[in-house]
Amino acid sequence: MARILITSAIPYINGIKHLGNLVGSQLPADLYARYMRARGHEVMFLCATDEHGTPAELAAAKTGEPVAEYCARMHGVQADLARGFRLSFDHFGRSSSPQNHRLTQYFAGRLAENGYIEEVTERQVYSNADNRFLPDRYIEGTCPNCGYHKARGDQCENCTKQLDPTDLIDPRSAISGSTDLEVRETKHLYLRQSALKGELAAWIDSKTDWPILTTSIAKKWLNDGDGLQDRGITRDLDWGIPVRKGDQDWPGMEGKVFYVWFDAPIEYIAAAAEWAEAHGRPDADWRRWWRTDEGAEDVRYVQFMGKDNVPFHTLSFPATIMGSRDPWKLVDYIKSFNYLNYDGGQFSTSQGRGVFMDQALAILPSDYWRWWLLSHAPESSDSEFTWENFQAAVNKDLADVLGNFVSRVTKFCRAKFGEAVPEGGSLGDREQELIDDLYIRIRAYEAHMEAIEVRKAAGELRAIWVAGNEYLQAAEPWTVIKTDPQAAAAIVRFSLNLIRLYAVLSAPFIPDASETLLKALDTDGDWPNDLRDALARLTAGHGFATPDILFRKIADEEREGWQAQFAGARR
Ligand code: 2FM
Ligand code: ZN
Repeated sequence: MARILITSAIPYINGIKHLGNLVGSQLPADLYARYMRARGHEVMFLCATDEHGTPAELAAAKTGEPVAEYCARMHGVQADLARGFRLSFDHFGRSSSPQNHRLTQYFAGRLAENGYIEEVTERQVYSNADNRFLPDRYIEGTCPNCGYHKARGDQCENCTKQLDPTDLIDPRSAISGSTDLEVRETKHLYLRQSALKGELAAWIDSKTDWPILTTSIAKKWLNDGDGLQDRGITRDLDWGIPVRKGDQDWPGMEGKVFYVWFDAPIEYIAAAAEWAEAHGRPDADWRRWWRTDEGAEDVRYVQFMGKDNVPFHTLSFPATIMGSRDPWKLVDYIKSFNYLNYDGGQFSTSQGRGVFMDQALAILPSDYWRWWLLSHAPESSDSEFTWENFQAAVNKDLADVLGNFVSRVTKFCRAKFGEAVPEGGSLGDREQELIDDLYIRIRAYEAHMEAIEVRKAAGELRAIWVAGNEYLQAAEPWTVIKTDPQAAAAIVRFSLNLIRLYAVLSAPFIPDASETLLKALDTDGDWPNDLRDALARLTAGHGFATPDILFRKIADEEREGWQAQFAGARR
């Protein structure tokens, strides 16, 4: 038994995530966690909400809530949706937790002690009316390039020109509208990533088994001219983790907070500490996942994320860990994803384009979405969601292949033998052939799951379902029963065991359907390490309940309705 630590990129707190976000990190991480648990490994699967930074402040300002209240409420919303999608986190934490405050301040202190922090004095815009420094995007004014009067200090939305706040004509505060602004000196902390460049490069070079998508992005950032610049890790904001050196004040840093991208990955560690607290466990119980001097030396740590997150996870966060010179666990494998597009364009949170997690669950149960998303995961390239494709995959794979197999077998059995596994007859060549075929396919499925090749695993699972259907079609128990009831009984018994096998193998993808089947068959779901044994588990006389329709088909009118409903932006 191995110990596997799994983290999914932690979603920003502001707003509900769309299906593109979901398939790029949390959902495949859940697939992997469920699979590894099913194989008997000890798993710690962590996620959290990413609660700091300007977007959280802006979103709270929009709803009129204090930012802490906004974050607490949205954490609840996101946690509910995660449960709705059956994301099996061991803990869904919050980057604003006391644990993350302590750990983030601790890491900053260690980095400073080891000479990896530089204090830099900068000139920044200060608003007297608001009593605060303004981040670039909090400053508005007229664009020197096109004359647009609501250009932001970082960029003009109208002509897209990148700007510096001092370029703006008639600058004003986006918070209060005040023009009483001045440029003041302010101090910030920089993480000296460049001093760790050699170490980072050697570490990434040693990861020869990582997906190309991950290493190519990492190497590009490492080697491109400005790739590994030292990064500012503090901001002049109210909302965030106060800058401290461990538990000491940091002179000159009063009133400042850490940059959201500094504290967010540290939340991976803090989430484990939150987990321990939530379960009344001692610190040693979470530290054995994270400290190689306290039990984590045999942990395999796997991260899941979209490609835009790769630089932070291959360079910045490892720099934080390495620079601490403490034995914290570094990631062993980074599975990254391309983008899922929506119907000829991009999913967009800001434009409300696409299907969002709450909307998806209001339409259909989570298994339908899980199956489509995972079987179309954007692994080797971007992929696209279209309603036609979704309808076709659901109707074919889930309803026609898997659902139909289950319903034909159980209904036929109920009609001819009653709701118990029938006795009599024995397995023949056809069954043996199927077992041989399944044996090979299941080993391939396992190999794809181990390698986190999500689409390939889905393809193999589909093939496993299809094989059962083809077997049933060829074995024809409905014909055989007329001349040889014993032989028909053997076919049905074998097929009921196939349903059990399917429930177990499919659980990581479609956990609800799997549970429904196992319940209906009144059985449990251990992994088919011994296939022959697994296919003989339900013995003659074992009672079952014929399940209701497992997956319903999506009608054309329904699909057209959704297409129309989701054509515009989310209101
Ligand atoms: O891109 C995002 O959604 C970020 N909130 C991911 C952060 S992952 C990590 F570093 F915590
Ligand atoms: Zn402009």
